[in-house]
Amino acid sequence: MAEPIISIRNVSKYFGDFTALEDITIDIRPGEIFALLGPSGCGKSTLLRCIAGFETPSTGDILIDGKDMTEVPPNKRPVNMVFQSYAVFPHMSVEQNVAYGLKMDGMSKSEIAPKVAEALEQVKLGQFAKRMPDQLSGGQRQRVALARALVKRPRVLLLDEPLSALDAKLRDAMRLELVKLQQEVGVSFVMVTHDQSEALAMADRIAVMKDGRLRQLADPVTLYERPADAFVADFIGRVNLFDVTGRAPFTAKSLGALELPPGAEVPPVGDLVLAIRPEYIHLHPDTSGPIPAKLGDVGFQGDISVVEVTLSDGRAILVQVEHDETPALLALPLGAPVSISLDLTRASVLPVSDA
Ligand SMILES: Nc1ncnc2c1ncn2[C@@H]1O[C@H](COP(=O)(O)OP(=O)(O)OP(=O)(O)O)[C@@H](O)[C@H]1O
Ligand SMILES: [Mg+2]
Repeated sequence: MAEPIISIRNVSKYFGDFTALEDITIDIRPGEIFALLGPSGCGKSTLLRCIAGFETPSTGDILIDGKDMTEVPPNKRPVNMVFQSYAVFPHMSVEQNVAYGLKMDGMSKSEIAPKVAEALEQVKLGQFAKRMPDQLSGGQRQRVALARALVKRPRVLLLDEPLSALDAKLRDAMRLELVKLQQEVGVSFVMVTHDQSEALAMADRIAVMKDGRLRQLADPVTLYERPADAFVADFIGRVNLFDVTGRAPFTAKSLGALELPPGAEVPPVGDLVLAIRPEYIHLHPDTSGPIPAKLGDVGFQGDISVVEVTLSDGRAILVQVEHDETPALLALPLGAPVSISLDLTRASVLPVSDA
């Protein structure tokens, strides 16, 4: 396998007695889109700032292209950062914004012009070169910020919440554009997001973080299908979690005694939960299924519906229902007796993550 473009080795970061990052080890491959994902305050921006050189790890090393970065200041690192609250200079035109970094590097006008033109082409803003930022849409301003980073030809682009300032529709469009751009330009992206759907849609691999620690590093499908613990399962997509007692056979709260299929991996010690995603629970619009329930809200989403049902002990869970099956449910009154069956081959038994 190719040498990692970025190696983060046992990096911890303390602010006073607060631990923002704890023993993070991650290798990022050249040419990949790598996402740092986790709830607010988990340390994503701090880790990105350590890579960029705006923060210094308290312990551990960061290597870029095999070179130790400890003594290398931000402007000498082969990376460029697009900040969380991306800002463009309001008093400069689009092309002046993009040219700024090169000018600061002392490059001549004749060298700068073609580079700026190329970067603006890459983000499809060629015809807006003379506009001022306040004459652009949010998505276009976002692309100016990108062009400003790309024009310096970094090996790696560090993007902190690149799409958070955009509305939902524009965000979807920009997701696809960013992925296309990354493929065209070939630089590695390390992007920070707290939006799991953004990470799943864009990233080749995702590091899920919580409280300064790495919880799981995997590709999107593995994270979704084989989460390492209850926190990851809950953070990525929708999931129903049931407290478990005993081992084989074990009892899941609200569901009773269950046999997991042979080969299911059950951690031998510690508190466990049974995790099952809404699409692996079947909802019968009558009482023919094995587990009785009462119908709750039917959340119609077009292609699918996400339906809340209440089990006999009062526990509410989410069940996913295909479009075709939704009308039969909508015809029933709230609280109607229904039933569910679980596809336990798709369930997992996971360790409970510490708080
Ligand atoms: N300079 C600092 N001094 C003290 N604490 C800091 C400093 N910078 C960050 N922190 C703390 O470190 C933790 C991680 O912050 P960080 O900005 O990395 O979070 P984040 O994961 O990017 O969150 P968000 O999604 O809200 O941007 C937070 O609790 C934050 O308050
Ligand atoms: Mg942040």
